[in-house]
Amino acid sequence: MSTDREAVVWTRLRGQPKRMGRLYVTDQECRFTYDDDYLQLSQPGLGLVYAPEFYGSSTISRQRREPFDLFPPIQSLIPPRQRDNFQRNLALKYLQLKQDRKFTQTDIASFDTDWEILMISGHGGIGHLDVFADDETAEHWYGHALPHELKEISDDLSFSLKQFMTWFEEDIDVFIRTVGPTPSVGGAIPKLLLSIPESGWDGRIGLPTRKKTPGVVDIVLKFEQTTRYPGIIELEMLALEMHREAGFEVPRYWPCFFKGMPAIAIERFDRDHNNTPLCSETLYSILASGIRLNNHYDYRYDLIAQAIDLSPVEFVSDTIEAKKYLFKRLLMAMLTGNGDLHLENLSVTCCNGVKAFSKIYDPAPMRAYAQHDMLSVMPFGEYGEMPDGYEETITLKDAVMRFAKSCGLTKTETADIIEQLILKTQDFSARVSELKTVPDENKRRLIEKTQAVRKKLQQQW
Ligand SMILES: Nc1ncnc2c1ncn2[C@@H]1O[C@H](COP(=O)(O)OP(=O)(O)OP(=O)(O)O)[C@@H](O)[C@H]1O
Ligand SMILES: [Mg+2]
Repeated sequence: MSTDREAVVWTRLRGQPKRMGRLYVTDQECRFTYDDDYLQLSQPGLGLVYAPEFYGSSTISRQRREPFDLFPPIQSLIPPRQRDNFQRNLALKYLQLKQDRKFTQTDIASFDTDWEILMISGHGGIGHLDVFADDETAEHWYGHALPHELKEISDDLSFSLKQFMTWFEEDIDVFIRTVGPTPSVGGAIPKLLLSIPESGWDGRIGLPTRKKTPGVVDIVLKFEQTTRYPGIIELEMLALEMHREAGFEVPRYWPCFFKGMPAIAIERFDRDHNNTPLCSETLYSILASGIRLNNHYDYRYDLIAQAIDLSPVEFVSDTIEAKKYLFKRLLMAMLTGNGDLHLENLSVTCCNGVKAFSKIYDPAPMRAYAQHDMLSVMPFGEYGEMPDGYEETITLKDAVMRFAKSCGLTKTETADIIEQLILKTQDFSARVSELKTVPDENKRRLIEKTQAVRKKLQQQW
């Protein structure tokens, strides 16, 4: 037995809260209908695939099928059903407190629970979609935010998040009461959405903004889980810096301590200088809206390049530039020891009608950690495979050249990019050696693996 469910989707694109449409979920499918008023505005909608221009006022329907009960852009507002997911645990704890009940094992991984989480944390998160149970809740949420206030972490927040983070629980009640329901952020690393002074981190924090708030900038605060990933904050900063030096757009960021825990505050790329959401969507959400994907690495880089050209839905405006970007990103990831450039670590933002890959996020050199030590989470250029007509497996260098071809690059362009990025990353090993908080074993692994990649890429062919 199940009950159909209804919710409303609002957005603050262009500044003012506006209802976008109605969401309806049956036991078989999810359905969404744009409001006529919203269609008049000619604004982006649920996502690049489920865009108003393709559907107008016709109801969009999608079969519920693992892993998506909902439209991918909406599903991505719900933290995944992993037991150790920080955001999901936070939301569950909040529900427990609010409803004075216990969740059983079956509850925790059920769609009913997903839905409850969506109702409390499906607004004010990453991106431009705000989901609410009904219009009244939405209007109240937008209209009754407490005046924005920046507080010193040490004085007013009387909870020890540090203990909470080192798994778990004792102070969570206080945390929830202090911070309230937190908007959802995906991914494996514990993080909070907050706001800080426009001039940068100075130890004061506020809740994420809900309207234009002069002098305040929205950030993602990522914590270091020192036991699992020692030194990851320093590594992520180094990777951000290397990307900046290599010519990529990187948001501002500040290393900091939050109640004694190392953390990094990163400016949100999905908000403009008026704290207004920009339309943004991960590649996972975009692709899964059109084709069947089982998880966020269930694809090939070459197919992304192909989709950029051939997809019936345009998801980047400058396709040539986007394919070149993709090639450079994968190369940079390999040169800086990040094998984790999956579909949720690539996003498209739409700014003044121009769709392009967002600023860099999550470039952490994960190969430093044994459990993530892989060259690449998704295949490219048939590396290590033996395609028809081949007698040997494809080498790294050949695979890179083949992927470059998928990205529309000539041999000369490819050679130039490789040479340039090798040059831009030449002091990577030396800089890794100098890091203070990364254990020697992890440094050694990272240096060894990235040196091996450099060597293979520098080989003549
Ligand atoms: N600066 C940012 N601005 C806006 N959104 C961001 C930013 N950084 C991260 N995000 C969003 O939050 C999600 C999770 O963040 P991030 O990828 O940095 O963390 P993660 O937990 O390390 O992820 P993973 O599971 O890939 O390791 C991203 O997929 C992205 O949608
Ligand atoms: Mg990520």
